[in-house]
Amino acid sequence: MSSSYKIIDHEYDVVVLGAGGSGLRAAVGLSEAGLKTACISKVFPTRSHTSAAQGGISASLGNMGEDDWRWHMYDTVKGADWLGDQDSIEYLCKEAPKAVIELEKYGVPFSRTEDGKIYQRPFGGMTKNYGNGIVQRTCAAADRTGHAILHTLYGQALKHKTEFFIEYFALDLLMKNGECKGLIAWNLNDGTIHRFRAHAVIIATGGYGKVYYSATSAHTCTGDGNAMVLRAGLPLQDMEFVQFHPTGIYGHGTLITEGARGEGGYLTNSKGERFMERYAPKAKDLASRDVVSRSMSIEINEGRGVGKEQDHVHLNLSHLDKEIIESRLPGITDAARLFANVDVTKEPIPVVPTVHYNMGGIPTNYKGEVLTVNGSEKTVPGLMAIGEAACVSVHGANRLGSNSLIDLVVFGRAAAKRAAELIKPGQPHEEIGESETQKCLDRFDKIRNSEGNTGTAELRLSMQKTMQSKCAVFRTEKTLKEGVKEIRDTYDGLDSLSVKDKSLIFNTDLVETLEFDNLIRQAVVTVDSAYHRKESRGAHAREDFPKRDDEKFMQHTLAWCNGKETKISYREVHKSTLTNEVQYFPPQERVY
Ligand code: FUM
Repeated sequence: MSSSYKIIDHEYDVVVLGAGGSGLRAAVGLSEAGLKTACISKVFPTRSHTSAAQGGISASLGNMGEDDWRWHMYDTVKGADWLGDQDSIEYLCKEAPKAVIELEKYGVPFSRTEDGKIYQRPFGGMTKNYGNGIVQRTCAAADRTGHAILHTLYGQALKHKTEFFIEYFALDLLMKNGECKGLIAWNLNDGTIHRFRAHAVIIATGGYGKVYYSATSAHTCTGDGNAMVLRAGLPLQDMEFVQFHPTGIYGHGTLITEGARGEGGYLTNSKGERFMERYAPKAKDLASRDVVSRSMSIEINEGRGVGKEQDHVHLNLSHLDKEIIESRLPGITDAARLFANVDVTKEPIPVVPTVHYNMGGIPTNYKGEVLTVNGSEKTVPGLMAIGEAACVSVHGANRLGSNSLIDLVVFGRAAAKRAAELIKPGQPHEEIGESETQKCLDRFDKIRNSEGNTGTAELRLSMQKTMQSKCAVFRTEKTLKEGVKEIRDTYDGLDSLSVKDKSLIFNTDLVETLEFDNLIRQAVVTVDSAYHRKESRGAHAREDFPKRDDEKFMQHTLAWCNGKETKISYREVHKSTLTNEVQYFPPQERVY
């Protein structure tokens, strides 16, 4: 049946899948190195979700007071609750200042200080002198930093002659004897199927926030690359660690940047109390996100939430100077007016913890090479991953705000460098048989011709509601056990799926179904990984195991998933750094 699809073949040195910040930064580096590079994206590059990143990008530039990459590293290790790989974290924090200056040279329109330097604001968990006071480390372009970076990098990629395949939906990787040889994609514009052969595929497909009901993520955040990796028989890592951003607009999920608290905003409960003073006496509203989200949830659960349902809290900005709001927070001022009907200069914004980021993803080393474990850790030839799709792992159990944008550009650049070391421009491609292509097209064809009686939207809603209630900020054995079962019941719904539109041109019914098929696999491994981690660490808060258990669980979870069956295993956290200049062990209590 599937042999009826006509296949158009392409050969590239490297294929980058995804055109957000990390994909574009990698594409720029690869093209600059003379490698023939394709960048494939299901959306127009400047519509990638990086454009939604607001508050900024971290780097110890020290433009607004003393700073040091070692302090940045310490904050990141601590924020990660000692689950981050310290070699990767050292690389990130050391390379960060260079990467930001490079962006400045590319043309990113950063906000400026009086003396013309890049403006930096305080962000949660970013401190000076190893936890002794707040530091201004987050470089900002008002509250539209991701948007500014994305547009600039797209311009650079065009300048360096990266070839774009826009509105192509990737279906699966082409694997041969455990090595990646390329991928298959569907062109949404004309319905054709394309086979890309490449010496390396770099997955940069972002997170999978849409597995949850309420998320700051765009509808396109379906973790397509993660699911392709699972289908290739490879594991995902640390999927139980899902970040809830403290300030999503109540009822909408739209992000209100942490930069709002960085500029002096604060949270209050129904009694008007600044409750963060109780939970984090030093850092208060600028504690790390897991701490603030848990504190908000406790306030709500104990009856001190605001509103008719007492199910959210207030973010106050009206005391701030109007000039600061206009120049540094224009985007969230608009968002609050549009989605909450609030004038931030006069009223508080109703906010609630909202799913924002996946710390877990495709395991990689700091060069972007994908890792698997077969007895010992080894790289998967021809396969790399970067950005939110990857778990490098610099964020460990909890990411600090503004460490995501810097992760994109530092590791996008590192992956390009590594690919340029491994691949010679124009080197010949190995033959690959037809069976992998056939397997991929059989799956595509089966989904396209689903003739059951359940619509994709119904199954997706059921998955999202389960994840929202059973794998939430606080988790227990009971909720997770229920979650494991309910997600499998939803998975079984794939057998009775109905895809009404059978066409191949801009068939959004089929796109959403393929995305759902990707999401549900990630839901399975997320809830299973959470069930098996019987401790509390970072964003994974188990009420029945409230303490961190370093003896048993200072380890990365690895989860393989063959349909709804999973295999869970663990791998050591990298405690050594690259230079052994600094190392932050043993783990400490996290006090903010
Ligand atoms: O709050 C924010 O502006 C988000 C930043 C981030 O997630 O890094």
